[in-house]
Amino acid sequence: MTSKRKPILVVHGPNLNMLGSREPEIYGTTTLADIDASLTALAAELGWTLETYQSNGEGDIVTRIQQAAACNSGVLINPGAYTHTSVAIRDAVSACALPVVECHLSNIHRREEFRHRSLIVDVAVGQVMGFGATSYLLGLRALVSVLERS
Ligand code: DQA
Repeated sequence: MTSKRKPILVVHGPNLNMLGSREPEIYGTTTLADIDASLTALAAELGWTLETYQSNGEGDIVTRIQQAAACNSGVLINPGAYTHTSVAIRDAVSACALPVVECHLSNIHRREEFRHRSLIVDVAVGQVMGFGATSYLLGLRALVSVLERS
């Protein structure tokens, strides 16, 4: 059973490579490497493997999600600022036919109005936000629960 599992893909969008030093009052001081290490450890505990991917480019993220359809079992994505603007990433999520969970470090509804809208959330299984780096871990647990019941 476990051998048929493809890795879960974690996608980090633009500026998330700067975590640790980027606006720590909003995003905390945990680095992206720390987040990826925690996710990899949690995935192993839950019996899954993980691939992580970060890009500042919209087209690169679209391409990686397209590849996921063949190579991965599901996707955990923090699209960063593209959450609010990218029809292309939304379309890729919609077309990939995999369960996708959206996550955010910050609670986007407590911030500027332009951040309140996600173009991804209604083509994702669900969304986790507002818990800092823990949002990713909760999102991974949620994605695994969806994968294990399908
Ligand atoms: C973010 C929220 C977005 O509005 C912002 O552009 C980001 C990070 C978050 O994780 O809280 O880059 O996705």
